[in-house]
Amino acid sequence: MSNQEIYLDYAATSPVDPAVAAAMLDCLQHEFGNASSQHAAGKRARQRVEGARAAVAARVGAAPERLLFTSGATEANNLALQGVLRRQRKPRPHLVTSRIEHKSVLDTARALETEGVEVTYVDAEADGSIDPRRVAAAVRADTALVSIMHVNNETGVIQDVSAIGALCRERGVPFHVDAAQSVGKLPLELASAPIDLCSLTAHKICGPKGVGALYIAPHVVLAAQLHGGEQERGLRAGTLATHQIVGMGKAYELADPLLEAPRLAALRDRLWQELGAIPGVRQNGAPARRAAHVLNVSFPGVDGESLRFALRSVAVSAGSACAADSPEASHVLTGMGLSDTLAGSSLRFSVGRFTTEAEVVRAAATVVGAVSRLRSVAKSAPAWCSGSGF
Ligand SMILES: Cc1ncc(COP(=O)(O)O)c(C=O)c1O
Repeated sequence: MSNQEIYLDYAATSPVDPAVAAAMLDCLQHEFGNASSQHAAGKRARQRVEGARAAVAARVGAAPERLLFTSGATEANNLALQGVLRRQRKPRPHLVTSRIEHKSVLDTARALETEGVEVTYVDAEADGSIDPRRVAAAVRADTALVSIMHVNNETGVIQDVSAIGALCRERGVPFHVDAAQSVGKLPLELASAPIDLCSLTAHKICGPKGVGALYIAPHVVLAAQLHGGEQERGLRAGTLATHQIVGMGKAYELADPLLEAPRLAALRDRLWQELGAIPGVRQNGAPARRAAHVLNVSFPGVDGESLRFALRSVAVSAGSACAADSPEASHVLTGMGLSDTLAGSSLRFSVGRFTTEAEVVRAAATVVGAVSRLRSVAKSAPAWCSGSGF
């Protein structure tokens, strides 16, 4: 990243912490053994893997043996949904999720529909929350799984996973939570929470890309999605990526929400203080129930993609990064009731460990200038331009 660039896209991914990189490098240079091998090199690699598993487990309040390493939260979400639904004996098992989940849940749900699974997509409220009563109303006698994310990646809105989990427990339905955005921002105590499956990732909290984990409560049985070895209790075949796992362990050791979240919230609020002065702007997602790192803002009269492009030195997202190459309006924002045009005029800003207040202030000034320029261009555009969503 150049010195001029201001990175405000931590919800997409984050820079690797130097301490994480050092732990990974040490592992790459000194521990090449296969963690499944029985000789000394293999045993040392296994020790590193288990040390990392313990560190991840400590951060999320789980017993280490309940965690299974994956290639990230996408794979963990796939394994959770497919693993539960493909074990069902009923011809048309039922899945409940919401319209504002990450694509790795929504696209998996759609793939399961083609295999005969019936899916209910619960609507979001205008403030970006999922009302547990809507989930309760969607659960049926044949519901095999409920999947609701903890923190939304586009708005930062925190869902009431305790209430949703409690109602799932009452009805005897397993509950899956995608917590890719919540680790390091909110405390997690999975062992005592009414949560049966939980997806985790490393790269949102200054860990490496390509590694994550799935928490699996003791009573949950999954169908394996990868075949070819007994690694990770036979549920996830393949030689363990020791250095990636070690990096994840270090990242989880460092990501203490009690230490980091107040600083991130102050940066996010400072950003809004500056951007809120732009006429007509609005925040998306209930401010009172948002994780510390995300600020989603609509700039009416400005196309979000044009604004993102005009910012050049400020890295932000229009929609989520995974969907950024799709021209459609954000399914999260439209799912909260925003028009396509207003959703299309929105940007997601997200701060993280290495963001400074000076950067936030400089980025805000750049945004204020760009919005004003784009709005004046739009005003002076010929009539044939109107209605283009610009
Ligand atoms: C809420 C959420 N779930 C899942 C994912 C996918 O995570 P990964 O990149 O580790 O596959 C992301 C990352 O974009 C996310 O924000």
